Amino acid sequence: MNAETSVEPTLRLAEPVATGSGRWVLDPEVLTRNHIVGFGAMSDHSRPFFMIRSGLLHHATAMHQRVFAVTSAQAGNGKTHIATNLAATLSRIHPTILLELDLHQPSLGQRLGLPTDTPGIDDYLSGEAAWEDTAIQIEGFDLTVHRVRLARVNAGSLLASAALADILKRLRSNSNGPICIVDTPPALIGDDLVLIARGIDGVLLVAEEARSRKRDIIDVANALNPTPIVGTILNNSIALQSRSNSYGYYYQDDREGHSTGAPLANL
Ligand SMILES: Nc1ncnc2c1ncn2[C@@H]1O[C@H](COP(=O)(O)OP(=O)(O)O)[C@@H](O)[C@H]1O
Ligand SMILES: [Mg+2]
Repeated sequence: MNAETSVEPTLRLAEPVATGSGRWVLDPEVLTRNHIVGFGAMSDHSRPFFMIRSGLLHHATAMHQRVFAVTSAQAGNGKTHIATNLAATLSRIHPTILLELDLHQPSLGQRLGLPTDTPGIDDYLSGEAAWEDTAIQIEGFDLTVHRVRLARVNAGSLLASAALADILKRLRSNSNGPICIVDTPPALIGDDLVLIARGIDGVLLVAEEARSRKRDIIDVANALNPTPIVGTILNNSIALQSRSNSYGYYYQDDREGHSTGAPLANL
């Protein structure tokens, strides 16, 4: 099915999945609750992700690159939000892998309403599962998600493992293969991101309006060196406001001159 040409969102209610052969059907209510807009029809809320995907696809094709991490200085800047929505929109026109490598505070499974009992990338990194068995294929989209099943206190040693280096090398070397979007931990907490960055092609750096400090962004760029920053995204999610109200409402009507809450990209 070509998700891109359909007018209505192609999602149906969740039903059981068998990993490996089965495909997971996303629950639209979970997506709506978690502000995941990239699987639905184009709207004011999802348009920025369509634009980001165009820039990224152009870059990936021109440079023969395949693996990109989404990161930011701090927790809560919108890394998972942007990685997930970007992977969703990208998967409508190109084979896409969404790989979660925030092993300390995983959120992808909950954000997408994925099964909790199948092996995760953490099981692969600790040698307890095959890479293929951690794949969750999303019905109706060319998207494969490898989420973390359980938070891991030994994240550093898992990210330093040969298993991660092997899989990133495999993904990078397949220049006709899927584009992989990696959701990462905050760049300035521990050295997790440095371990991830050495195995990928480039980074999309997220800054959050009114929260991300210039000094932190410079520190992130230095920490990533020599891995290139291929794009920057300003996530003006007015998160401070929404965290302090009870509506969980990030998007405002830009026709009234307010922030849309949507990311602005420079790719
Ligand atoms: N632009 C946005 N629009 C709506 N919700 C957002 C936006 N950016 C972030 N959020 C929400 O803010 C919270 C923190 O974002 P998250 O992606 O988890 O940050 P991080 O991965 O950087 O820790 C989540 O609940 C997420 O859904
Ligand atoms: Mg996150």
